[in-house]
Amino acid sequence: MNMVESFEKIPVKVFPDSKKGSAYVAQEIAALIRKKAAASEKCVLGMATGATPVSLYAELVRMHREEGLSFKNVITFNLDEYYPIEKEAVHSYWSFMHRHLFDHIDIDPANIHIPNGSWPKDDIKKYCAAYDEAIDAAGGIDLQILGIGLNGHIGFNEPGSSIYSKTRLVNLDNTTRIANTYEFANISKVPRLAVTMGIGNILKSKRVLLMGWGQKAAIIAKAVEGNVTEQIPASILQQHPDCTFIIDEAASSELTRNKAPWLTGDCVWTPVMIKKAVIYLALKLGKSVLSLTAMDYIENGLSDLLVEKGDAYEINLQVFYMLRDSITGWPGGKPNAVIPAHPERSEPHPKRCIIFSPHPDDDIISMGGTFMRLHDQGHEVHVAYQTSGNIAVTDEFVTRFIDFAVGFEEMFGIDNHKSQQILKAAREYIATKQKDQPDTSDIRSIKGLIRRCEAKATCRYVGLPEGRAHFQNLPFYETGAIEKNPMGEEDVTLTMQLLRKIKPHQVYCAGDLADPHGTHKVCLEVVFESLRRIKAAGDEWVKNCWVWLYKGAWQEWDISEIEMAIPMSPDQVMKKRFGIFIHQSQKDMVPFQGTDSREFWQRAEDRNSNTANIYAELGMTKYAAMEAFVRWHY
Ligand code: F6R
Repeated sequence: MNMVESFEKIPVKVFPDSKKGSAYVAQEIAALIRKKAAASEKCVLGMATGATPVSLYAELVRMHREEGLSFKNVITFNLDEYYPIEKEAVHSYWSFMHRHLFDHIDIDPANIHIPNGSWPKDDIKKYCAAYDEAIDAAGGIDLQILGIGLNGHIGFNEPGSSIYSKTRLVNLDNTTRIANTYEFANISKVPRLAVTMGIGNILKSKRVLLMGWGQKAAIIAKAVEGNVTEQIPASILQQHPDCTFIIDEAASSELTRNKAPWLTGDCVWTPVMIKKAVIYLALKLGKSVLSLTAMDYIENGLSDLLVEKGDAYEINLQVFYMLRDSITGWPGGKPNAVIPAHPERSEPHPKRCIIFSPHPDDDIISMGGTFMRLHDQGHEVHVAYQTSGNIAVTDEFVTRFIDFAVGFEEMFGIDNHKSQQILKAAREYIATKQKDQPDTSDIRSIKGLIRRCEAKATCRYVGLPEGRAHFQNLPFYETGAIEKNPMGEEDVTLTMQLLRKIKPHQVYCAGDLADPHGTHKVCLEVVFESLRRIKAAGDEWVKNCWVWLYKGAWQEWDISEIEMAIPMSPDQVMKKRFGIFIHQSQKDMVPFQGTDSREFWQRAEDRNSNTANIYAELGMTKYAAMEAFVRWHY
């Protein structure tokens, strides 16, 4: 057994991204289907729904079309279905499976099994027993595909489900209902019940592949490394003889092999690794960095570091200085000061800075304090709003604004014939709108306008003069649906043009690889690609252009990664809060809240005060809040 395996009780394969992980799973499925077909056998697959397997199904469809993969010998059993729900309702998993897979392959419809969400309740027990019997009659499941809920559920086996459970009617956790709200108009529309295969069924499958991307890092680490407990249903998979977790890099970040690599094998003690280890040790023991003793190192798996680097106090000091030097109130560099360890250059001053904001509010939510400091300290700050963000405005909100436009024109004697028409059309459209039905282009434009006005108001609030807000409306985002296109040439061209116009000394962008719909990831790729191309083209200015990454609304940098921490006073925290409030279309219930029911300003404040608290725990001065950045080198 190697050291990783002594922590990870389930085999885990990590892929650079979810596409590559899905391709691996698709390959394994295809190989099994072909092997069975060659032996004239049926191949029984257990299927999952949700956001996780979407790219897997796309890959299977591609393999069917381009590589002739046939599903004629395949029998499928889906894990679960909402209850009650009509089979063909847009939100049903029946519809999901047909939309993403079954409508595009050559499977025999008689071989498809999906729990029936409209079976009469008083007969449901019998129905569920028959579902289990059908699985047995097919010879059992050869390969079961799973996703994982943020609470560790598999199928809809919520925490507390028995290891012996079979197919049955269950209550959905409130957290699951919140997480799945994105599939419905709002939470009240998410069913409270579901029919799910049990954990017992899943354990009986011959092979299990659980897929998990991005945001699932914390629960995946618990399921793989923690104790087996019914409170985390996925941890029960530790008892399965042939289960593998297929995850992407972001989802592997909480595993010990990444969190504390010195515990799972030899590691090279670079300054960054030393910082990571010492911070890990200090936080684990609840001590400040300078209070760590040689015994603390030895008793916690770090004697290796002591052997290599010598004295504990010297190591402590090295890390203490790294932490101390990352804190600065001068994100654009301190003018007329020579501070060699300062995260930014003092010259030139003032600098030209550009903040790339994936949605129209990420600038203020994620780096509002720094944004204001940069402007107040005399830098020329520009903001590039990369996408219109139109998808995240509710229908109610857009109707309210068109209503305003009609009233405004009426009030001033302007002919409001046209705006009345738009209002009428919008009302009619919204009244019958189905899930996944894109808005009309008028409605989309108005939703974009609402967010643009909010962003402009934020820039005014910070004090930027006119002309410093740039609305890019990158085309990859404008699908009208939740799912976005990949980065395109046009996205890069627009971004290169803007960068070349401004010639910034500093670029800030959202360094997220995990946001619910992948927008931040694409926005980041677009900026990276543009800068790489500009560099390759030999533009002089780009040699002096530094890139700082902030994290978007969903997470924060690990404390050991932070290279620049900008402290905020209580007043600045309040000022940032009011800046976030300007984004009224994103207050209260927004369409894509995710599992976190806190509003964006609350998340930002919790996160920024948490960073400040951790710095204080490590022995630094205690600030009210801190924003954090990591430098990207290219
Ligand atoms: C879906 C299912 C669930 C999901 C889980 C993750 O059939 O049974 O366990 O796999 O809720 O959902 P997503 O993939 O949407 O994050």
